[in-house]
Amino acid sequence: MPAKIISGKEVAGAIREELKLRAQKLKDRGLVAGLGVILVGEDPASVSYVTAKAKAAEEIGIFEETVRLPGDAAEEEILKNVAGLNQDKRFHGVLVQLPLPKWVNPDKVINFISPEKDVDGFHPVNVGKLLRGEPCPLPCTPYGIQQMLVRSGFSPEGQHVVICGRSNIVGKPLAALLMQKKPGANATVTICHTGTKDIKKYTLQADILIAAMGAPKTIIADMVREGCVVIDVGVNRVPDSSAAKGFRLVGDCDFEAIKEKAAAITPVPGGVGPMTVTMLMMNTIEAAERTLP
Ligand code: GUN
Repeated sequence: MPAKIISGKEVAGAIREELKLRAQKLKDRGLVAGLGVILVGEDPASVSYVTAKAKAAEEIGIFEETVRLPGDAAEEEILKNVAGLNQDKRFHGVLVQLPLPKWVNPDKVINFISPEKDVDGFHPVNVGKLLRGEPCPLPCTPYGIQQMLVRSGFSPEGQHVVICGRSNIVGKPLAALLMQKKPGANATVTICHTGTKDIKKYTLQADILIAAMGAPKTIIADMVREGCVVIDVGVNRVPDSSAAKGFRLVGDCDFEAIKEKAAAITPVPGGVGPMTVTMLMMNTIEAAERTLP
């Protein structure tokens, strides 16, 4: 039987309705949740992400402002703007869109964001809290994947989750999140990476397989067990002269072949992407709620 297609768009839509109510509750108490974004340069993918964030914020009732810095901005100028957003009480969440120009140290910039306003969950204080199981803003893509699984009836509890990819944004925090002794987690987690010998040996053991390598169509049907739940985090632009923009988006999985075998799979686009943006909104609302007595 073909796989159930897990629509991130649908799950995200349901969460956004909940967030609208929470934003309104805050307004009833005199507080407008605010998100400050810093965008350096005009990388098309970054501009598209930042536009999606602004649109989601507006839809939910979050005040959003994007500081646009030129592509040749110095590290000092970026840090100065982070400091400005840190101090500005209108903003409960602050994020700097990555990647940054090559002469800027991204760790230095991330470390400069106030941990209380770090709605990406990238600050080392929050990364440490996540690993220790303490309350903290959860990185948006891992948080979105967890919510999508739980809300679609595929809770990771007791399951073997195999993650391909060990990035600081997805693989590592997702492993930390799903192995926690908490509802919606409590999974057995394996991480595969470029140093793994015979990846297929591990992916075939997965109840839930998460592809987050950033390499188009790398997970093929042969690597997937019948009945597996597959989450595709990849967003790869591949040239396509028949598409209006000259490219199309493909995931890290061979969707068409895997959907004949898996119990469920997320599409690209319309899978993890909308969830990531939505969890950023969730983190912003939660950061605003934390400031109230
Ligand atoms: N660039 C790609 N993904 C992300 C993200 O989740 N947060 C930020 N700040 N930049 C990104």
